[in-house]
Amino acid sequence: MEQVPDLAPGTALDVGSGEGADAIWLASQGWQVTGVDVSTVALERAARRAAGAGVDIAARILFFTAEQVAATLDPDSWEIVLAATLARRARDPEGRQVTIHDAVLHARRLAA
Ligand SMILES: C[S@@+](CC[C@H](N)C(=O)[O-])C[C@H]1O[C@@H](n2cnc3c(N)ncnc32)[C@H](O)[C@@H]1O
Repeated sequence: MEQVPDLAPGTALDVGSGEGADAIWLASQGWQVTGVDVSTVALERAARRAAGAGVDIAARILFFTAEQVAATLDPDSWEIVLAATLARRARDPEGRQVTIHDAVLHARRLAA
């Protein structure tokens, strides 16, 4: 996540958003975040945490199930896609630190 502050806030998809810590942090930096997870329990907890983080932050985050995102949302909706946990699992079996370079599977800056 350390390179995210170098980017002007935009739209972010957080795949495997879990209980929402990364999504809430991104929203606190001004990003509009879509959190997606396969666990409805995690999504419910994330929504509660976001609400507890304050109205301004909660208003910048939407949480969806993976099925909802696949069925209803345009894949071109986001400028960055984070999959930190999934990338860590796939690429970091020895427990190395995963950088944002590893976590960003697809990054695109739209024309300003
Ligand atoms: C360690 S948690 C993520 C923590 C999160 N980054 C945070 O800031 O709290 C990993 C999450 O990935 C989700 N997950 C695993 N495989 C997934 C998949 N294929 N698609 C979406 N979510 C997935 C799990 O349900 C779990 O909630």
